[in-house]
Amino acid sequence: MSSKSVVVGICGGIAVYKALDIISRLKKKDVNVYVIMTKSSTEFVSPLSFQSLSQNMVISDMFEEPRAWEIQHISLAKKADLMLIVPATANIIGKVANGIADDMLSTTIMATKAPVVFAPAMNTNMYQNPIVQDNIKRLKSFNYKFILPSSGRLACGDVGEGKLADTEYISEVVYSMLYDKKDLCNKEVLVTAGPTVSYIDPVRYITNRSSGKMGYAIAEEARDRGANVTLISGPCALKKPYGINVIDINTNEEMYNKVLEYYDKSDIVIKSAAVADYKTKTYSEKKIKKSEDDLKITFVRDNDILKTLGDRKHNQILVGFAAESNDLIENATNKMNKKNLDYIVANDITLKDTGFSSDHNLVTILSRDGKVYNFDKMTKRKIARELFNLLNKKR
Ligand code: CTP
Repeated sequence: MSSKSVVVGICGGIAVYKALDIISRLKKKDVNVYVIMTKSSTEFVSPLSFQSLSQNMVISDMFEEPRAWEIQHISLAKKADLMLIVPATANIIGKVANGIADDMLSTTIMATKAPVVFAPAMNTNMYQNPIVQDNIKRLKSFNYKFILPSSGRLACGDVGEGKLADTEYISEVVYSMLYDKKDLCNKEVLVTAGPTVSYIDPVRYITNRSSGKMGYAIAEEARDRGANVTLISGPCALKKPYGINVIDINTNEEMYNKVLEYYDKSDIVIKSAAVADYKTKTYSEKKIKKSEDDLKITFVRDNDILKTLGDRKHNQILVGFAAESNDLIENATNKMNKKNLDYIVANDITLKDTGFSSDHNLVTILSRDGKVYNFDKMTKRKIARELFNLLNKKR
């Protein structure tokens, strides 16, 4: 995604310091950040901290000497791809809702055509005050967006609504709004990720090394492109992504049931999960005790979920993965045909630094019409992007 600009408006509240984390996260994602501070916010944290993190001059005084020949509130209002107001106080919400523009921040909000997102944080009683609630409602009716506060212990000691939403969540929402491709709006995308497990006894099970990273990257890419995403995930250590319907499962059978539940209403189904083909023949209710003999466990075949989806396909685009250690193209092509897929993403699991657990992968995507797309080693997120680019070219 080409670099975007966010103008962050900082208002005076104890949560000011949390805005530093949001700015740092946006910078890590290559977003240009320009900060405007209200006078009272500078009492909480020095502008220098925001200047250092944003790597841009911080503006707070509307009438200070212009550094360049441009009117600052107008130039920032034009430069913004999005404005984020954090923490948004009752004061700034009230001002904008009533058309008041009397300082650098409120004039810039008034002058911008970019989307404006408010992330409020304030005392519970203030937040619940009907005047504040009314102002929020009014701003929403003019298409201003809100990332509503959560409940928790507030700086004043009260417990209740008014705590700034999670900073990671705020930066993810902002990044998602900036995303340049929105070509999956109104599409239902179903993704599976991670391993499945098969239980042996109450304390033991077998599984595989899948980290889930590929499937999560696919789900996040689809979300940012505007899709409604359901992610059916085997056990993995990744944080639940915001804005995605994540369903946790453990076994092949649980994944099978959930996938079928969502299949009919899905437009695109991407099965990146490393599903176990075998399960234990019997499950021991009691912990298996050791003995002097070898332990023999019999495994029996389990569902081939993707094959079932291929057999029942109507108008979904169906994408599978193929992890191969030899004859990559031949094996992947066979899987694509056998499971009635539209695309298959093939990767060679013998390569170092890619695949399982890595943030990167090196894949070849094959299409049903016989095309072969080779990609360089890239991040899993970038692969997800390339995959949807291909899928969308077709439709
Ligand atoms: N898959 C599935 N159900 C299974 C096994 C695999 O839905 N029981 C799906 C995977 O999610 C993947 C694709 O099928 O999208 C291929 O998985 P893979 O493990 O590479 O192939 P298998 O069909 O299991 O064949 P093999 O293990 O013999 O290579």
